[in-house]
Amino acid sequence: MSLTIAIDGPAASGKGTVARALAQRLGYAHLDTGLLYRAVGRKTLEGMAPLEAAQSLSASDVADADALRAPDVARAASRVAAMPEVRAALIGFQRAFAQRMGGAVLDGRDIGTVICPDADVKLFVTATDAVRAARRHKELLGKGHDVTLDEVTADLAERDRRDAARATAPLVPAKDAVLIDTSAMSIETAVRTALDAIRAVQ
Ligand code: C5P
Repeated sequence: MSLTIAIDGPAASGKGTVARALAQRLGYAHLDTGLLYRAVGRKTLEGMAPLEAAQSLSASDVADADALRAPDVARAASRVAAMPEVRAALIGFQRAFAQRMGGAVLDGRDIGTVICPDADVKLFVTATDAVRAARRHKELLGKGHDVTLDEVTADLAERDRRDAARATAPLVPAKDAVLIDTSAMSIETAVRTALDAIRAVQ
């Protein structure tokens, strides 16, 4: 049976890692929806209006995932993600992806609540603020970005606040989501916990 799996959670919670691992093990397609908002944010940094950027998004805009991981792009993504018209412009693509034959894993902030409220499995992946900041700091240093742990901590706090406070599609766990706190988990354990939740619905 092919499933639609919705994974939500804050930045650096481990949701992307879990999503990629699940898609690989199950042979499903994977969509990191944060990349869509990052691509829109990046176009606004180049001077395009947010709605136009969202409406004109194409595959080439999300091809360079590394450039989209830069901290200034993350901040711009978080700003455009608070705009209802930008979110609305991206819904159709995400829903079409979720309905792919053969199964799909989507990760983001509002997959289980707004994009795929009928997903077969919903996971909400979290970790403490300190653990998330440490992970993201290490990841950014590894990619050559010159940032301090304090800067990353402040950045995540600001993005969390904006994601949780916005009126449209705020970051909240769906009522029927399985919560996975990865703070003290290895990647293996987090993936195994997710697979157990998936098996439970099959
Ligand atoms: O997950 P990632 O950090 O790449 O997402 C970048 C930004 O895009 C987030 O800070 C969030 O504001 C926004 N986002 C969103 N809804 C999603 C995915 C990402 O609002 N489904």
